Amino acid sequence: MDKAIEVSNLIKDYGTLRAIKGLSFQVEGGEIFGLIGPNGAGKTTALRVISTLLQVTSGSVKIFGYDVTRQADKVRECISYLPEEAGAYKNLSGKDYLEFMAGFYSENSQEKKNIAEKGVKIASLDERIKDKVSTYSKGMTRRLLLARALMVNPRLAILDEPTSGLDVINSHEIRRLIKSFAKNGTTVLLSSHNMLEVEFLCDRISLIDKGLVLETGSPKELKDKYQAQNIEEVFMEVVK
Ligand SMILES: Nc1ncnc2c1ncn2[C@@H]1O[C@H](COP(=O)(O)OP(=O)(O)O)[C@@H](O)[C@H]1O
Ligand SMILES: [Mg+2]
Repeated sequence: MDKAIEVSNLIKDYGTLRAIKGLSFQVEGGEIFGLIGPNGAGKTTALRVISTLLQVTSGSVKIFGYDVTRQADKVRECISYLPEEAGAYKNLSGKDYLEFMAGFYSENSQEKKNIAEKGVKIASLDERIKDKVSTYSKGMTRRLLLARALMVNPRLAILDEPTSGLDVINSHEIRRLIKSFAKNGTTVLLSSHNMLEVEFLCDRISLIDKGLVLETGSPKELKDKYQAQNIEEVFMEVVK
């Protein structure tokens, strides 16, 4: 069986800046895997390369056995990507936005309707789904965008800081939603700079800093290894 994700010695340069300096990790199908690290660590860059949006400088990335450089189209069929700073079309209602996006993934109007209906369910914005996106709070917009990413049932969901900037209740809802999708077989790769939330969310994590993986393991393994109370403490120990 191919791994869901196989990143081997990935290097990514922006001009003369080396943002990723040799990243390697593997993710099994059905896992929730987190790239965890401070701002500037290279998380977004890594996710964008894995999503085929940025070109590899060197090294290799395979998604379900498909190479992101040579088989980008195949990779795109398997994945759904939630960008860090995404917005939805403000003048559409949440429902119309989901229907519009569903159109890109369907062959006929029935299929489009089914996908959009699934999105409406995932977003669970109740009656507000009919209101314009411009009237949504940050948490509501994030839920809408996550619903857009998940409604197509991707084999791999790539979520860049899915809970960033959200309050406790919205973050909790989003984490619960991500968990329920993973239970149904979706593999999830996400990033977070919030080291405390990942313990609940991720099966395994890679701690990254300055474009390098410092440690990989389950939150429990890492806490035991460093005799730490939480992942923040683990991180402070490994960067020492
Ligand atoms: N488009 C870009 N052009 C040049 N440098 C970039 C670009 N995007 C990110 N960087 C740099 O690459 C490094 C990693 O950034 P990023 O991947 O956004 O980190 P993170 O998501 O972990 O905060 C940072 O030093 C950042 O300034
Ligand atoms: Mg980022």
